[in-house]
Amino acid sequence: MSTSAAELQTVREQSLTEAVVASFAHAPDARTGQVLQSLVKHLHAFIRDVRLTEEEWNAAITFLTEVGHITTAWRQEFILLSDVLGASMQVIGVNNPAYENATEATVFGPFFVDDAPLITQGEDMAFGARGEPCWVSGSVTDTSGKPIPGARIEVWEADEEGFYDVQYDDDRTAARAHLFSDDDGEYRFWGLTPTPYPIPSDGPVGRLLETVGRSPMRASHLHFMVTAPGFRRLVTHIFVRGDEIGWKDSVFGVKESLIHDFVRHDDSAPTPDGRSVNGKSWTEVQFDIVLAPADA
Ligand code: BEZ
Ligand code: FE
Repeated sequence: MSTSAAELQTVREQSLTEAVVASFAHAPDARTGQVLQSLVKHLHAFIRDVRLTEEEWNAAITFLTEVGHITTAWRQEFILLSDVLGASMQVIGVNNPAYENATEATVFGPFFVDDAPLITQGEDMAFGARGEPCWVSGSVTDTSGKPIPGARIEVWEADEEGFYDVQYDDDRTAARAHLFSDDDGEYRFWGLTPTPYPIPSDGPVGRLLETVGRSPMRASHLHFMVTAPGFRRLVTHIFVRGDEIGWKDSVFGVKESLIHDFVRHDDSAPTPDGRSVNGKSWTEVQFDIVLAPADA
């Protein structure tokens, strides 16, 4: 291609982008117009950057169609796609800016369920899910260390086989619950020592990971969502120090501040509340939660 032909090509590509961007200039909702204009600019830049072929674009459309077809109320392949592309974590980062010593947020994931059972302090949220017992305790405070009584703490996790209850064949509820911080802003409950598990990988997102030689494994974690009036909602996990997956987490959710020591005891060690662990080892972890103000 001669120089002038190359220049003509560049002008044509740029003017197409400009025409599409301009088409959104008068969207009745200004924010919608702004978001679509930016999306078009980045999408066109990407297509031009990699000189995307027609076959590749058709393959992308086929892929997204498959993501749509496998998605149901229980299997949200679009969330998985967003997660493995790091888009979920980028949105979380943009919307949860660091604030003083507030606990960091991480990915929500697709396995939260509303209306998990209420447990009292010290109760077991496993409800029969299999795994090593884990005593979890800590406080909920504001950034100055003032206790927050009555904070709602939702907790959920996979069993030792790597399955959430919503993935069981029956409709049992297990390894999920909610409780409230006590008058001193403290909480405690029995859960399971987290173990690594793969994100659902039998669909198009799993194929994508395989194609590029990436693992579907998530670092071992226990999910938390903490809410209290006047404070920013916190969606986070605690991760296990020394975990075999660790920073290779398939959805980029690990943050140094969220890695905690899960201290293992053998079955002969007395448990904090005197519970018998039936000849099993058990672990304990402390997680002190610091909430940012709602307007932070
Ligand atoms: C989870 O931790 O539950 C999860 C997060 C992202 C994708 C799949 C699962
Ligand atoms: Fe999870």
